[in-house]
Amino acid sequence: MTYRVLYPSMRWPANREIEVASMGDLGTAEMCDGFEEVTQEQWAQCDALVTVNDVPAEYRAKLNKCRILVTPKVGFDNLDLNAWSALGIPICNIPDYGTMEVADHAMALMLSLMKGITFHTRELKLSPAQNWRPALNPYGKRLSVCTLGLVGMGRIGTAVALRAKAFGMDVVFYDPYLSNGVDLAIGVRRVHSLGELFGQSDVVSLHLPLSDATRKLINAEVLAESKPGLILVNTARGPIIDLDALYQAMKNNQVQAAGLDVLPEEPANPDHPLIKAWAADEEWIDHRLVLTPHSAFFTPESVYDMRFKPGEVALTYLSTGRLQNCVNEELIGERR
Ligand code: NAI
Repeated sequence: MTYRVLYPSMRWPANREIEVASMGDLGTAEMCDGFEEVTQEQWAQCDALVTVNDVPAEYRAKLNKCRILVTPKVGFDNLDLNAWSALGIPICNIPDYGTMEVADHAMALMLSLMKGITFHTRELKLSPAQNWRPALNPYGKRLSVCTLGLVGMGRIGTAVALRAKAFGMDVVFYDPYLSNGVDLAIGVRRVHSLGELFGQSDVVSLHLPLSDATRKLINAEVLAESKPGLILVNTARGPIIDLDALYQAMKNNQVQAAGLDVLPEEPANPDHPLIKAWAADEEWIDHRLVLTPHSAFFTPESVYDMRFKPGEVALTYLSTGRLQNCVNEELIGERR
């Protein structure tokens, strides 16, 4: 038997042989460029769905046989878990395609700010000869005398911790959902409140999911508790930081600098005061903000994994019943 795996809204225009190869002998990949292109028959007869974007309710209602939805990314905050759970359809994410890339990126944002990489580049561009001065970097600090605080100590948080330890940093984390001993396993410290974490960290890096509980978790109150001169790094999800609060905290110098790969609004909102000040090179924010366009995950290797792994996850479930990385198991259980 071959299973029909429907990709109703393909993100990648080229190299579609990756999805085809992931089917092996077990399935066929049916790829469409948008939901509106999918036929009635495809919605009704597919056994599995692979999609980054949530399927609108009008199309969801057409599903007849679908037994699994795989979303080729880590975050699943854009999917209507209740609606899929009501249909009894498990949602699985792909948590392991970009763990190393995002950890590398968090380190890169931190290092770029602390070592003045973008700062020196711009200064030298202005005047290669006159600005050839090594002692200008505003945030230069020996990494091994700094404390890195991690909010969230899952896959990416752990990968960042291991990298930072190799740089000689003191690593401390806050993650209320982990059992005792995680700190001992990798030789880092643990604290039990955000206030404690922000109060002692030179750099804080965020590695937790976005949910109703974590939206604007990093707000004015938390930032006010931070060690003066904090560098804040966010490669998790934009809405976890209250951007207005960060703007104020940077303006009053509580937060010295920020490296952001994600923003509450993506693409970036050019009218937000923080983005506006940064884009206009306002003096107070000069060299204090590094932005990347939600690109932390992106390497050719991670993209390959992101495209290959969903087919495997879907077909393993369909052919053996083994469910991997299910994110709505509890919700489905509650409805049984
Ligand atoms: P994970 O599920 O392995 O780890 C998340 C950790 O956060 C868990 O240990 C959990 O207990 C903890 N956590 C949850 N709520 C918390 C709270 N209120 N305070 C402190 N800790 C809390 O997830 P993983 O793989 O480490 O990914 C982390 C996040 O990175 C994802 O949710 C995703 O949003 C983001 N991400 C960003 C990418 C990018 O390109 N910028 C790419 C991939 C993931």
